[in-house]
Amino acid sequence: MTREFLPAGTAGIIEATPAALPATLDAEAVVVFLTEGGVGAGAAAAVDTATGGMLARLASAGELSGRRYDCVALLAPAGMRAGQVVVVGLGRREEVDAGVVHRAAATAARHLAGRPRSRVAFLPDPGWTTSQLEQAVVGGAVGMVGQDLYRTEPRRTRFGVTCWVGADAAAVLRGATIAEGVNLARRLVNMSPDHLYPESFAEEAAAIAGRTGLEIEIWDEDRLRRERCAALLAVAKGSARPPRLVLLRYRGRPRTGGDHPDLAFVGKGVTFDSGGLSLKPSESMMGMKMDMSGAAGVLGAIGVVASLKLPVDVVASVGLVENMTGPAAYKLGDVITARSGTTIEIHNTDAEGRVVLADVLDVVCGLAPRRMIDLATLTGACMVALGNDVAGLFTNDQACCDAVAAAARAVGEAVWQLPMYADYGDQIKSDVADIKNVGEGRLGGAITAAKFLERFVGDVPWTHVDIAGPAFAEKPQPWTDGGGTGVMVRALVELARTTG
Ligand code: BES
Ligand code: MN
Ligand code: ZN
Repeated sequence: MTREFLPAGTAGIIEATPAALPATLDAEAVVVFLTEGGVGAGAAAAVDTATGGMLARLASAGELSGRRYDCVALLAPAGMRAGQVVVVGLGRREEVDAGVVHRAAATAARHLAGRPRSRVAFLPDPGWTTSQLEQAVVGGAVGMVGQDLYRTEPRRTRFGVTCWVGADAAAVLRGATIAEGVNLARRLVNMSPDHLYPESFAEEAAAIAGRTGLEIEIWDEDRLRRERCAALLAVAKGSARPPRLVLLRYRGRPRTGGDHPDLAFVGKGVTFDSGGLSLKPSESMMGMKMDMSGAAGVLGAIGVVASLKLPVDVVASVGLVENMTGPAAYKLGDVITARSGTTIEIHNTDAEGRVVLADVLDVVCGLAPRRMIDLATLTGACMVALGNDVAGLFTNDQACCDAVAAAARAVGEAVWQLPMYADYGDQIKSDVADIKNVGEGRLGGAITAAKFLERFVGDVPWTHVDIAGPAFAEKPQPWTDGGGTGVMVRALVELARTTG
């Protein structure tokens, strides 16, 4: 059962409440944030006063460090109506940003969500910017959701009511809406690949479209054939599950001539990547249900954009396939004519994401968006380059890439640009076709993959985001149980807000 973007009140209430003395707060738990400098003058100081100086005493005794994501529960605190105060660390005051408050709020929420809670109060620091407050609200809503979708007794339970005390109501509402998109993306990533496959993903998209008022088109195999999406169809051939392409459209710009979308989001939606005939070994195949994280992210992001009714026109498109080894599977040496007319020689069926995206990018280019961003769990090489936490950026237009990077930075998502070094484009030359689907050897593999995609974006200003590392947390972190992360949903929403 889907639950994101349902009417307020159906999926756990998140609200702003008037400023109040901490002592009087009627909640099971009160969350307060602490920097390394001590209780200072903000919300932590107010709690300190209410508790007769308990926070300051514990801080000088070294029990409360204020270090990043340090989370300490003080049970049955004197002077408070609430049953406990959870103190979560923000680290050094001068290093606090939207990403830090996001993860700190998520840490406290994750901790408290280990048991059912009817009411939890967060005390934001009055010194935070609106955008920091908003990202903290997102964190509070994301942290209380785990990855145990199928566990008989879930490890995390959403709070009945989350209140942000003394916070700006509009910012809290925005944060709660953004969190719906992040949690949607996470849920889809965490679903069993036997439940989430191209058709069922398309149904999920249709449900979100229905709830948020997006226009939707779902292309089945027939339509894909008529549209000459031979590259996407080739990857799908090895699977018993038919592929889909989904196009979502949101029109929020005041109507002023021209129908070009301001932004286009494109997502890789490989609902399971076995590698195809270039089969992955078991250890690498485990986890490949996450290979649709890009598609999940763009669906989450456009859902938020529509819910927030942002004044922009956005399209989102995802290419949905399962990469399998069935009797009709595409083969090494196959030459495919992609929708754009470019011919592709297949050298490795495990480099399938770029082949799928070739057609989706071409479809979206046809709408002539002002900017196009794709999210894809594209290469292991990008993880070698940037590790688990940082997404790689690749572009044919520096202003477009700078806008994506600035949006990511504003919400605290880590990205780093890698070079589209021209000569690496030679590595994808083929003896028999226009291009082949892998470079020479493994070195620079994230860049050669991006050079392949570049062949399908024409003149559209485009940024490719390789999210292979940050899309999925293999291990728990203080702020998450692990699993799908919803990476880049917050950044894309921010980009839509700063585009206009
Ligand atoms: N989906 C994988 C990339 C990936 C790897 C994502 C690990 C997340 C974690 C992609 O389809 C793939 O298999 N890429 C190959 C490309 C190679 C065959 C050129 C890779 O990275 O090994
Ligand atoms: Mn692959
Ligand atoms: Zn893949």
